[in-house]
Amino acid sequence: MTEQTTNPPTRKVYVETYGCQMNEADSQIVLSVMNRGGFEPTADMAAADVIFLNTCSIRDNAEARIHGRLTNIAYYKKRNPGLVVGILGCMAERLRRDLLGDGSIVDVVVGPDEYRALPELVDEARHGEKGLAVKLSRVETYDDITPLRTEGISAWLSVMRGCDKFCTFCVVPFTRGRERSRSLSSIVREVEELAAHDFREITLLGQNVNSYRSEGSDFADLLAAVADVDPRIRIRYTTSHPQDMSDRLIETMASRANICNYIHLPVQSGSNRVLRLMNRTYTVEHYLERIARIHELIPGVSMSTDIITGFPTETEDDHRLTLELIERVRYDGAYTFKYSPRENTKAWAMGDDVPEEVKARRLEEVIALCRGISAENNQRHVGAVEQVLVDGPSRKDELEWRGRTDTNKVVIFRHGDEQIGDYVPMKIHRASAATLFGSAVDAAGNATFIPLQMAIA
Ligand code: SAH
Ligand code: SF4
Ligand code: F3S
Repeated sequence: MTEQTTNPPTRKVYVETYGCQMNEADSQIVLSVMNRGGFEPTADMAAADVIFLNTCSIRDNAEARIHGRLTNIAYYKKRNPGLVVGILGCMAERLRRDLLGDGSIVDVVVGPDEYRALPELVDEARHGEKGLAVKLSRVETYDDITPLRTEGISAWLSVMRGCDKFCTFCVVPFTRGRERSRSLSSIVREVEELAAHDFREITLLGQNVNSYRSEGSDFADLLAAVADVDPRIRIRYTTSHPQDMSDRLIETMASRANICNYIHLPVQSGSNRVLRLMNRTYTVEHYLERIARIHELIPGVSMSTDIITGFPTETEDDHRLTLELIERVRYDGAYTFKYSPRENTKAWAMGDDVPEEVKARRLEEVIALCRGISAENNQRHVGAVEQVLVDGPSRKDELEWRGRTDTNKVVIFRHGDEQIGDYVPMKIHRASAATLFGSAVDAAGNATFIPLQMAIA
């Protein structure tokens, strides 16, 4: 899906991406914009004329990693003084001019809504002029820019940008700006193009994807329209907010076979007192009622969540309520974090009164509980036949390939004649907390290829 350029690209740009899927998708927009400006992508940092780090500010350690990375890049800059180094993304938006201070190797700092200016800023930087572009926009959605996607069967597709929720711990509303949605017709057009290029899985993205709204259409309408483009394409989405998890959205998920039975629904805490302090705008009761409705309409659905431990004033009782909630929902997966105070957020002013070792111990308890539950949940798949979308070779062993179920679980199998992008029925023989192990069967459920460990046994 390479864009046509007027001049043949000669200079090379290298992009390293941190943070969430929205940043992954943005990096493909950045590559597309740079390509129009005469740059071609490279995976080799040493060969690059321009190095961009597309950064994340969500927690302090995300930013610390970037400072560390810049120290490595200083080595390349020393060898090649013409090299242009850019900080893009959320950290650019948050730290702005500070990133260009004395002795900094950074030449350009560009926030998430200013990527169209990149080629020009890079040219100016080559003539010694440092560049700063961090204005947030109320309208920019990069609607007309086709992301430069790498080969594969899965595509990210940003459908909205920004966030208006203002959870008190979170930098995103400040780094990404106000919520705005792309038009439904342009999204459907992009999905049609992806279908023509044999993509098999599309994940609709937004920090708050289910508050999508454009010309009278809501997220349920968008999901239905996208799913109807091609029944062979699996549709996923992330991240949804519990407040916007409407009945219509759940019904739409249930009504289309190619909308995956998997929902990531961050809860953050099981204590209403803490949820209120976080400005999450829902209660535990509301959350559980939504979960019940989801299970009612989508049997076999898989659920995951985000949890923060050690939010300001969190007590042992609050923590216990979080563990109780996890036991009730029985998540298939959880992303868990120690609270990290972020300057200028509301929670920053609440102090950071839970000691580090208490945050860490609570985190460990949450992780251990979640791991045990997902291991138990996964056992339920053993003996079942799952429709697996084949991703390709696993990282560990060339003979072993991986694929994913509709519920987003990884299945490892001994490779026979399956091709990347095939849907293959697989019988699940064994399961760990993170992975299922299976082998291909035919429509009648008979093995088409005997997995090695079974052949030996
Ligand atoms: N928009 C998504 C979340 C984006 S950030 C949503 O609302 O669900 C991903 C996760 O990072 C959040 O769900 C939260 O669990 C975590 N997070 C955000 N800010 C944090 C902070 N200051 N400290 C620790 N974790 C944080
Ligand atoms: Fe951050 Fe809350 Fe917006 Fe998610 S909904 S991005 S946690 S402010
Ligand atoms: Fe990080 Fe920005 Fe995403 S802060 S999580 S990269 S929106």
